[in-house]
Amino acid sequence: MRYFIPTFIIVVVSIVSILGFRGSFSKNTPIEVFPDMDRQAKFKSQTKNTFFSDGKADRLPVSGTAIRGNLISQDNVFSHSPIFNSNAVKTGKLLNGDWVKKIPSSVGIDMSLMRLGKEKYDIHCTVCHGKYGNGKGVISYFKLAPRNLSDASQSGTYLESAAPWSDGQIYNAISIGSGIMLGLKDKLSPKERWAIVLYLRSLQNYVSDATNHGGKKS
Ligand code: HEC
Repeated sequence: MRYFIPTFIIVVVSIVSILGFRGSFSKNTPIEVFPDMDRQAKFKSQTKNTFFSDGKADRLPVSGTAIRGNLISQDNVFSHSPIFNSNAVKTGKLLNGDWVKKIPSSVGIDMSLMRLGKEKYDIHCTVCHGKYGNGKGVISYFKLAPRNLSDASQSGTYLESAAPWSDGQIYNAISIGSGIMLGLKDKLSPKERWAIVLYLRSLQNYVSDATNHGGKKS
């Protein structure tokens, strides 16, 4: 009996406090042991905010804000008259839908572009197309057949003289993929993609020179 009454009271109080007030409403501030992120000092979109004279919570970007992903280089972001790259540079196609024949000169063709192309080719393409573009990267041992990119004497490739691809088409294949090949535009900036096109062209010249002179095919 000495323990019964205190135990009984504790049991009754805990049952009532846990279950007793379920479903009843209160205007009092709830006790939050862990407030999580239920309340945040923020304005939801499309709501009012009296701080601004137009009363809207949503704000337009500050004028002169440069959008990301529109191909302007860092120098241009802070310039008063930024140079936006053309559609041809972004897509490899002219506005009338024709392929760009040669790498657009605004990409800036020089040795540094060639080096960039080699670096990016080695990172993104060798696993499949092989170091010299012969289509014999490691992946080819797993029954995937990456195309030969450098040897025009191989039939069925884009290099075949019947319809050799333009630079724009190669750029497009890198961007959005070709057949079962994946597109890589999320990993390579347009400049890097054009750089790879340049490097590929040099691999082709190298391979055709080497084979014309009886050299060993790489
Ligand atoms: C995961 C493997 C893989 C990677 C990585 C890859 N390719 Fe490919 N590529 C292929 C395969 C496979 C094909 C053949 C696709 C088909 O015809 O269905 C192909 C086709 C191509 C073609 C078209 C060739 C033709 O004759 O039709 C080009 C051009 C090309 N790749 C360039 C590149 C370049 C440049 C890179 C690096 C930026 C690259 N690929 C990365 C697997 C790959």
